[in-house]
Amino acid sequence: MDNNKKNVQEAEPLLEAINLTKIYDDGVTAVDHVFFSVLPGQIFVMLGANGAGKTTTINLFLNFIEPTEGETKIAGISSHREPLRAKQNVAFVSENVMLYPNFTALQNLDFFTRLGGKDFYTRKNYGDILLRVGLDETSFNKKLKDFSKGMRQKCGIAIAIAKDAPAILLDEPTSGLDPKAGHEFITLLASLRSEGKAILISTHDIFRAKEIADIVGIMRSGEMVMQKSKTEIEHENLEKLYLEYMM
Ligand SMILES: Nc1ncnc2c1ncn2[C@@H]1O[C@H](COP(=O)(O)OP(=O)(O)O)[C@@H](O)[C@H]1O
Ligand SMILES: [Mg+2]
Repeated sequence: MDNNKKNVQEAEPLLEAINLTKIYDDGVTAVDHVFFSVLPGQIFVMLGANGAGKTTTINLFLNFIEPTEGETKIAGISSHREPLRAKQNVAFVSENVMLYPNFTALQNLDFFTRLGGKDFYTRKNYGDILLRVGLDETSFNKKLKDFSKGMRQKCGIAIAIAKDAPAILLDEPTSGLDPKAGHEFITLLASLRSEGKAILISTHDIFRAKEIADIVGIMRSGEMVMQKSKTEIEHENLEKLYLEYMM
């Protein structure tokens, strides 16, 4: 038997949504009895139109909001019942990365990394991480307020890499990136996958989804209406499928 396959099959999911449901106080059902899981070395892309429930799903993993029913687990730990322990196992990159505008890239990376409890990185380590995400030396000491959206995004992912958590959540990471920055970003995600990270991405960008996903989940009005693996999608027209599920 193929050993690699065996290992993947036996691996425990690092991210899990179990019967996950969120009804907001105003009665809107944003997430409706959703199940999915992401194994180490997998990228799960949540695809859906605005309002489909993607951000709500991510916010539930981060325990920013409480589930109405069901739960999320990170590395087997309930986000809701043990939020601190669960969140130690996940890094998060939001759509609009909130960093200190008056700090440089290096200062932001150092500040947030220490805040996360990691105080052993050297200046050289930080430089290597910034280079890895595609920021060059000349930008290390520039203030974030002088960065483009794409550069801020890179700084956000540098912070996520420094946290070195087994799972990574990204909410609309490629929205607003130009095609070159978007492509670089995809390459970076692929390298994180090869390190064994479990990655959950929300997007409405069907082309990026097809490029990077090991599993695509389509969300509509809070429901996960489709889940297919990369091999299943390869032989189908994802655009057509997506439109069909949107109807
Ligand atoms: N804090 C909130 N209170 C009430 N309704 C919300 C709140 N946040 C989101 N919603 C609603 O929940 C649904 C899902 O929103 P969201 O998770 O932001 O979707 P997406 O990220 O896919 O665009 C939408 O109908 C949205 O209007
Ligand atoms: Mg959203």
